[in-house]
Amino acid sequence: MRITASDIVMDGEQVLREKAVDVELPLSKKDKQTLTDMITYVRNSRDEEYREKYNVKASVGIAAPQIGISRKLLAVSIEDEDDCVEFALANPKIISNSTQKAYLENGESCLSVSPDVEGIVPRYARITVRAYNMLTDRLENIRLTGYPAIVLQHEIDHLYGHLYYDHINKNDPWAPIPDAVII
Ligand code: NI
Repeated sequence: MRITASDIVMDGEQVLREKAVDVELPLSKKDKQTLTDMITYVRNSRDEEYREKYNVKASVGIAAPQIGISRKLLAVSIEDEDDCVEFALANPKIISNSTQKAYLENGESCLSVSPDVEGIVPRYARITVRAYNMLTDRLENIRLTGYPAIVLQHEIDHLYGHLYYDHINKNDPWAPIPDAVII
């Protein structure tokens, strides 16, 4: 199935606020297909022509609840000049984190939230995530810092019914966070 704009569940729908269920390993054919569709979507969304043709927003990650599937599956694809960080994960769990925080200087955005909600979204600066990664066909402990760590925390949040703006300080959205890494 090709995921397009009309498949993306928008804020206000209950499925975005539910805790997703763990999937069974090895992955079923259906779960594999869902992960494949999601990683394909994120990869394709980098291409401007594709975005125009299918009316999709640029993205670096997507979680299954965002296409109406309340299961612990997510896909991330982040490309810069010399590197591409990609995961297609089942049952991801943060097993350790730094006390130090990090945040994106300009705040976060989400395929399911429009318009953007402005403000600092505090995240852990460093995380270790345990998950099955379909791209390597292994259970992995994935250690991340910087931008990829923030993206993965955003996507894992979706599996627990959280949206990025839940973390923004309501009284003072841009209040600085002491000792945080600014990305
Ligand atoms: Ni999101």
